[in-house]
Amino acid sequence: VRDWNGVAQVVLRSPKGASARVSLHGGQVVSWRNDRGEDLLFTSSKAIFKPPNAMRGGIQMCFPQFGYSGTLERHGFARNRIWALDDEHPPINQNDSVSKVSVDLILKPSEDDLKCWPHCFEFRLRVSLSKDGDLSLVSRIRNVNGKPFSFSFAYHTYLSVSDISEVRIEGLETLDYLDNLSHKERFTEQGDAVTFESEVDRVYVSSPNVVAVLDHEKKHSFVIRKEGLPDFVVWNPWEKKSKTMVDFGDEEYKQMLCVDAAAVEREITLKPGEEWTGKLELSAVSSTNCSDH
Ligand code: BG6
Repeated sequence: VRDWNGVAQVVLRSPKGASARVSLHGGQVVSWRNDRGEDLLFTSSKAIFKPPNAMRGGIQMCFPQFGYSGTLERHGFARNRIWALDDEHPPINQNDSVSKVSVDLILKPSEDDLKCWPHCFEFRLRVSLSKDGDLSLVSRIRNVNGKPFSFSFAYHTYLSVSDISEVRIEGLETLDYLDNLSHKERFTEQGDAVTFESEVDRVYVSSPNVVAVLDHEKKHSFVIRKEGLPDFVVWNPWEKKSKTMVDFGDEEYKQMLCVDAAAVEREITLKPGEEWTGKLELSAVSSTNCSDH
């Protein structure tokens, strides 16, 4: 555990030298590096690492709302709050404890949170790094309220890419998406992969659980796996929008792409006492391995 601007960060290291850093501010993964020390997640050079707002980059926890679909601040309050280390975490099974290092965090609503979202919950997050450097996030959200509640959710994931114009996402072809740039109108993906030549802000609904993000120049591509989360959000702000974000460089849209495992189109509803689990797994595959297969 390290202190960073007054907020603790937990550093996970694999035996081969990969690492991940998780901040108690937002439960945010603020860095993930492979065993060559390369950053796999994007962090803006203008990122602000101080509460109250989430740092621009890494993986942000969007809960209990994604976007502006409800009455709360954009993407909900979880990404802006200070989380705690969770002492009552479920035991790590023996196979896992050999092959992974993990940290368990918990968020419970404050009095102020309950004023704007009057539902008692416990949000447990386990972030793990495997011995091969794969990153996994498991969220468990429990209703400890007397009444049902509903929420939307996303792992808002800023991938680091070499040049957005060269990137393609495979696995979303032929799917329907809701386009945030045209009032959530529904379209069907026509391309044989998703590529980028202007601003993109879409929710690919009911998508398969595995997609690949292929980056032609870089030595690695990403494989993203999800469970319990029906949608993928794909976002790149491109040139004009970039200039409106104070914590984002004008040209930085070229080096990032957000691909978020999410539950956006349909909210998740929990009855009293019920728990929901949503998983994200990220692997960075080196291009040499890709061409071997
Ligand atoms: C994306 C949304 O996930 O996040 C975009 O689809 C939004 O609409 C973007 O602009 C960034 O949001 P924020 O609140 O982190 O600036």
